[in-house]
Amino acid sequence: MISKENFEKFIKKSLKDRTFFIVTNREPYIHTKTPDGVKVTKTAGGVHTLLDLVAQASNAIYVAHGSGNADKSVVNKHNIVPVPPKTKSYSLKRVFLSKKELENFYYGFSNQTLWPLSHAVFVKPEFHASWWKSYQAVNKKFADAILEEIGDKPAFVWVNDYHLALVPKMLKDSGKNIKVGTFWHIPWATYEIFRVNPWGKEILTGMLGSDFIGFHRGYHVQNFIQCVQRMIEAQIDFDQSHITFKDHISKVESLPAGIDYQEILEIKKEATSTLKKQFNREMGMNIEYLAVGVDRLDYTKGLIERFKMIDRFLEKHPEFQEKFIYYGIMPYSRIHIPVYRNYAKAVTDLCDKINWKYSRNDWEPIQLNLEGMSREKVITYYKNADLCLITPLDDGLNLVAKEYALSCEEESGMIVLSKFAGAANDLRHALLINPYDIEQGADAIYQALIMPSKEKKERNMKMREDLKSKNIYQWAINFIEKTLFE
Ligand code: G6P
Repeated sequence: MISKENFEKFIKKSLKDRTFFIVTNREPYIHTKTPDGVKVTKTAGGVHTLLDLVAQASNAIYVAHGSGNADKSVVNKHNIVPVPPKTKSYSLKRVFLSKKELENFYYGFSNQTLWPLSHAVFVKPEFHASWWKSYQAVNKKFADAILEEIGDKPAFVWVNDYHLALVPKMLKDSGKNIKVGTFWHIPWATYEIFRVNPWGKEILTGMLGSDFIGFHRGYHVQNFIQCVQRMIEAQIDFDQSHITFKDHISKVESLPAGIDYQEILEIKKEATSTLKKQFNREMGMNIEYLAVGVDRLDYTKGLIERFKMIDRFLEKHPEFQEKFIYYGIMPYSRIHIPVYRNYAKAVTDLCDKINWKYSRNDWEPIQLNLEGMSREKVITYYKNADLCLITPLDDGLNLVAKEYALSCEEESGMIVLSKFAGAANDLRHALLINPYDIEQGADAIYQALIMPSKEKKERNMKMREDLKSKNIYQWAINFIEKTLFE
C-alpha cells in the first residue's frame, strides 16, 4: 500500500521544480462569521476530502472559489490563506465571484446545463447563452488566478471536474511550461445526448488542452472519445487511447478514485461501537438493525426509489417493523435551483408518508439529518450500521460506497449498491441492484439483513483488498504519472 510518506517522496522526485496546483470550484476550507469570531470548517465528504489530502502531502497551491462569508477577510493581497488551520501545509488561493457569476456559472451552466446533461436521469438540461458566457468568463478567472501564481516557473496543474472544462486550453494557450491533468468526476454522456449542447465543441476543445483526461469508468472514456470523433476534427489512436488535436496529444483513460484507507481506519478505531444502544436509550426504542445512507439531496441519488424500497421491504417483512431504522444523512444541496427544491420536498414528503404509515410506539422507520455532519461522525455511523443503502440512478463513482465497505464491521455490515454507480465495478461483492426495480431493492435489503456473518465477512474482506492496494495516494500517483510521462 502506498503511504502518505511514499506519496510525498514521489511528488518530490517526479515534479522536481514544477509547482503543483490543484484547481476545483468548491474550496476545501471555508471561513464563516460566527458570534464567536471567524470559524474555519472543512468541506464535507467526497472528492474534497481526497484532494485536501493530496494537497497536504504535496504542499500544493489549491485554487478554488471563495464561498464563505469571511473568506475575504482572512486572505492576503494575492487572495491566499494557508490551510489546514493547524498544519498550514498548503496555500489556498481563492477566486471570488459576484452574485451574478454564481447564478450564471455555478447554479446555471455548471449545475443546470452540464450536470443534468452528464447524468442519465431524465432531467432536462437548460441552455442559455448568458450562462455559457459567464461559464467562459469564470473559467478565465480561474485560469488567470493560476497563471498569476505560476509566473515563469514550470507547473503541474490538476484540474478537477465539470465546472472548469475550459481551463486546460486556457492554460496551454498561455504558452507556459505547464502539464495539465483533468479529472472529470461525473459521468460523460453518450454522443446522442451530448450533441444537443450548443457549446459542446468548445467544451471538448477546452478539455483537449489537457495532457491527460481521467474518468472513473471505461464507458465514460468511450463516450468522451465518441463525442470527439463525431464533433471535432481530431485524430484518435484507439489502441493508445490518445487524441491528437491541433498537434497536441491528450491521453484519455479510466482511473477510478481510491479512498484514504489508512486515515479512515484511524478514525474507525476511535469511533464508538455502541451507537444502536445509545439510539435505543435516548429514543426509547428497540432497534436491532440500523441502515444508513449518506448523500447530498440531489435528484441523481435515487432517494425516492430508496424510500420506496424501504417501504416495500417493511410491507413484505413486517417482523422487521419496530426493529429496523434507516438513518439518512442528507444535507441540502444547490437549493436555489428549482428542480433541487422540488426534489427535496418530494423526498421529505415521501419520508413523512412512510413514517406515518408505519409509526408505532414512538418508532418511525426513517430518520433524516438534513444538515450533514463531520467525517468522524459519519464514519461512526458506518461502523455501527448493518446496512448502507446507495441507490443512485447514475453516478460517476460514489465514494460513500468505498468508505462504507472499509468502515463497517466486517461481520455485520453490508452494502446494497446501485449498479449505475461507478463504484459498482470495484465493489462486485456488494449486493448490486437496479434502483428502478423497487422489488429487487426491497429483497436486497432483506437479504443483506439476514445474510450470515461468515458470508458478510468474506464479501467485505474481498472488497477491502482492492481498497487497500488502490488507495487514494496510488490513484494520485497514477494520475500524475499519466499526465507527466506518458
Ligand atoms: C459532486 C461533484 C463535485 C462537487 C460535489 C458537491 O461530487 O463531482 O465537483 O463539488 O458534487 O457539489 P457542490 O455543488 O456542493 O460543490
